[in-house]
Amino acid sequence: MNLERCRPADVEALTAFLREVDLTLSGLDAPRVRLWLERDEAGAIIGSTGYEISSDGHHALIRSVAVSPTQRSRGRGSALASFVLERAVEEGVSRAWLFSRRSGPFWQSLGFESADRDELAEALAGTHQVRLFQQTGQVSREVAWSRLLAAI
Ligand SMILES: CC(C)(COP(=O)(O)OP(=O)(O)OC[C@H]1O[C@@H](n2cnc3c(N)ncnc32)[C@H](O)[C@@H]1OP(=O)(O)O)[C@@H](O)C(=O)NCCC(=O)NCCS
Repeated sequence: MNLERCRPADVEALTAFLREVDLTLSGLDAPRVRLWLERDEAGAIIGSTGYEISSDGHHALIRSVAVSPTQRSRGRGSALASFVLERAVEEGVSRAWLFSRRSGPFWQSLGFESADRDELAEALAGTHQVRLFQQTGQVSREVAWSRLLAAI
């Protein structure tokens, strides 16, 4: 897996990629959002991964984990998710959270358990994704997942 940090010049292409896979687009250029990309030999984005950190630095909201539809089911998504969990641990994060309505079994295979979405919103208040979901009311339709990172 050859990941590169997302630079300001990549945000437009990443936005198009995430739109295709129907993931959140807000805050992609914000300082507390860490993002990485994987490209194919022609330079097209085929994977992305990232997280948004809480203001106290203890919690990470995993987001933008996506694999191009033609590249799925080969372990790439798991590798992209594991990569950001490791980066979050290095940054001192002790608990990871995420919203996912469609990919629960994928996250369960990575040690995530069902979580309380209000607890997530409280731990990660102020993050772009939580603020957006609260503004739009989507938070009440979301499914939250969480895992401790101490074991990584
Ligand atoms: C979730 C996602 C990143 C997985 O990528 P991937 O490269 O296929 O992942 P892996 O090959 O490591 O693991 C695949 C396994 O995870 C599980 N899985 C993945 N997506 C799943 C889903 N939507 N529902 C149920 N199980 C799923 C399956 O067990 C699958 O095994 P299979 O391919 O043999 O059926 C990819 O499906 C994706 O980009 N989805 C759209 C974006 C998204 O929902 N991201 C998560 C929210 S941040």
